[in-house]
Amino acid sequence: MKIKGFIFDLDGVIVDTAKYHFLAWKNLANSLGFDFTETQNEQLKGVSRVESLKKILAWGNTTVSDEKFQELMTLKNTEYLEFINKMDDSEILPDVPRVLDYLIDNKQGVSLGSASKNAKVILEKVHLLSKFKTIVDGNDVSKAKPDPEVFLNAAKSLNIKPEDCVVFEDSVAGVQAANTANMISIGIGSKDVLYEADYIFNDFTEISTEFINKIINN
Ligand code: G6P
Ligand code: MG
Repeated sequence: MKIKGFIFDLDGVIVDTAKYHFLAWKNLANSLGFDFTETQNEQLKGVSRVESLKKILAWGNTTVSDEKFQELMTLKNTEYLEFINKMDDSEILPDVPRVLDYLIDNKQGVSLGSASKNAKVILEKVHLLSKFKTIVDGNDVSKAKPDPEVFLNAAKSLNIKPEDCVVFEDSVAGVQAANTANMISIGIGSKDVLYEADYIFNDFTEISTEFINKIINN
């Protein structure tokens, strides 16, 4: 078998943390006197914490001082972490461990490429941290997806060329980042949203061993 690099996004691919981001952002918006909808939350997938807050404040027609901005970021993350701290293995999305184990058993490079600064905490909570050879997260990058920086760094950390890497992503920005990095993009979610990806599956239960072998040996 050939060796490829498999880079996993975290939120929405390995675990469904979007619901916790939503609750924490909604409470923050409400405390500032405006609402925050699930539709707006969709648009924050793959978007860094700073950029998310900027968008939310713009949606609420609200401006704040730099100091207040930092305060709001901390407030949101503190509440988000309260949800994260209650997480366990039961929140891993279906068949993610099967695919991870298959790749590891077949000596493939496995890395995390996430915008989240909480990535390691989350992987620890769901007991998946040891599955990843390398982790590149929001603490390691300066440019947010759709910039390819996070995935290019992940490829480098695995010592595998970008064109030999495969990315699992649930966000449009992430799929675009993978495409720009010259990697194979696999969208996890709806075809209506992720149509720019090379392959699209609703979830990992649809990803067969045959498909993975084909990707590895291509
Ligand atoms: C992921 C999520 C985003 C989130 C970002 C930063 O990309 O999809 O919704 O804003 O990570 O997460 P953090 O845990 O650092 O606030
Ligand atoms: Mg995601």
